[in-house]
Amino acid sequence: MTYPYVLPRLPYAPAALEPNLNRATIMTHHDRIFAGHIDGLNRALQPYPALQRRPLSRLLLHPDCLPAPARPDILHHGSGVYSHALYFSSLAPARTGNPDAALAEALRCSFGSMEDFLRALRQASLQDTQEGCTWLLCDRCGRLRLLFTPGLQTALPLVPILCLDLHRHAYQLTCGDDREAYVNAALPLLNWEILSLRYATVSAGQPPFPNP
Ligand SMILES: [Fe+2]
Repeated sequence: MTYPYVLPRLPYAPAALEPNLNRATIMTHHDRIFAGHIDGLNRALQPYPALQRRPLSRLLLHPDCLPAPARPDILHHGSGVYSHALYFSSLAPARTGNPDAALAEALRCSFGSMEDFLRALRQASLQDTQEGCTWLLCDRCGRLRLLFTPGLQTALPLVPILCLDLHRHAYQLTCGDDREAYVNAALPLLNWEILSLRYATVSAGQPPFPNP
């Protein structure tokens, strides 16, 4: 993704994830929260043509290269754009496909089984009460690991396959304050087709798809 950033279309209808996540949750999260980060990042980069030409991940990886007055906004909204681009494309209507053979084998090697992976993802998402994100990360050898980051931090330079948003705005209109109910509702929504594609590209040393 590069400047000017454009809000990606939802890859499914806003009500397509019901009853796990209702239409109001998805509409508010995508059209207000995600769109707010897109607008904020464009606004923060507007005075800096040299920065506009850099990929988003490079801006986030090198905060010392950002002008001090704009640094907080570029990092805040840039991390928001990066994490939400991954989050919304990581979901799909319940039980859409399965991991392909390569990702299934990687999950087995790293976690033991699909059930063990889902258990580990659930634990990683619930072990901390702070808002944040859980990332499924892939190293250059194709090994997978989970990491929780608080707030809007990304896991860069580690490369993500999946981002699970654990901010209250991601679930409050469906689950109230019940984060555990949200995580349980979100796990069946993982888009294994996209996650498999991302794993194939990242483990081959290519930029992840979609490439934030
Ligand atoms: Fe969010």
